[in-house]
Amino acid sequence: MRIIKTAVAAAVAVTMLGSVAAKAQEIVIKFSHVTNGTTHPKAVAANEFAKRVNEQMKGRVRVDVFGGGSLYNDDDLLIELIKGKSVQMGSPSLSKFETMTKKFRVFDLPFLFDDIEAVNRFQKSAEGQNLLRSMEKKGILGLTFWHNGMKQMSANKPLMSPSDAKGLKFRVQQSDVLVAQMEALGATAQKLAFKEVYGALQTGVVDAQENTWSNIYSKKFFEVQDGVTETNHGIIDYAVVVSRRFWEGLPSDIRTDLERILAETTADRNKKSYELNQASRAKILENGGTIRTLNADQRAAWVKTMKPVWAQFEDEIGKDLIKAAQASN
Ligand code: LMR
Repeated sequence: MRIIKTAVAAAVAVTMLGSVAAKAQEIVIKFSHVTNGTTHPKAVAANEFAKRVNEQMKGRVRVDVFGGGSLYNDDDLLIELIKGKSVQMGSPSLSKFETMTKKFRVFDLPFLFDDIEAVNRFQKSAEGQNLLRSMEKKGILGLTFWHNGMKQMSANKPLMSPSDAKGLKFRVQQSDVLVAQMEALGATAQKLAFKEVYGALQTGVVDAQENTWSNIYSKKFFEVQDGVTETNHGIIDYAVVVSRRFWEGLPSDIRTDLERILAETTADRNKKSYELNQASRAKILENGGTIRTLNADQRAAWVKTMKPVWAQFEDEIGKDLIKAAQASN
């Protein structure tokens, strides 16, 4: 009897040790981004990715999502990803990679893409996929693209013609193309972190901004602006990026599983981004926001004023890359 008891105790101890060891080996991925809300394309995609990893790779990998800029703003995130210690993954907008690669500037050229479907085709092309590897030397790997949607303009006064923007100060993301775009309108631009935009609009530090319906709705920018003009003049999309140092240190079977889950999540979520943005547009109206639309002539005037910005950046982006992006329309 004593022998049986001892054997059982030993077996229990081995099992417990085993699970402690398994627990100790669990790889934790901190995923940082700046948006939030249960209907925002990126916030939903990040949570969905984490949920799937945490179910399917239980005990091996855990993804913890830090949204709303609660861990890092996007500038700090990129610096920390290079170090690869305090954060492992994130999904900044493509306009935030200014210090990592000049190639991503293609995504900021005004009136380049007709719609998010065209953006999708370009990202899936060989040229688009190559862009994901353009930051490798800096220590950051792009794994995939996530969609948000087309950008609209808002201001503390009605914006119908480009001359309405003259003299206004626009908040822009960290991108010199976006600064040049506002200067083409006779406006000025101030680069500010996403977290600071609502306060800056509210207190008059800036007069205007550009963003997608889902960002304008989830961050309530429409509440502190006269209205939003439906310009569809550019895009906000994301690169899901990982610290190269961290990624290359993972066992290859773990990398393969993470890549599969990310690809599945991306396919499911990217299909829904247009819908989510349209729902945010409707919510802005429901909540008392003003939306102004442009007729074809009015829109043509915005195109004529902003498109010359391309010439300033085509050498560093590369004419062939711009052509490939145009061909996706
Ligand atoms: C912004 O800063 O306006 C956007 O990049 C925020 C985001 O991640 O969509």
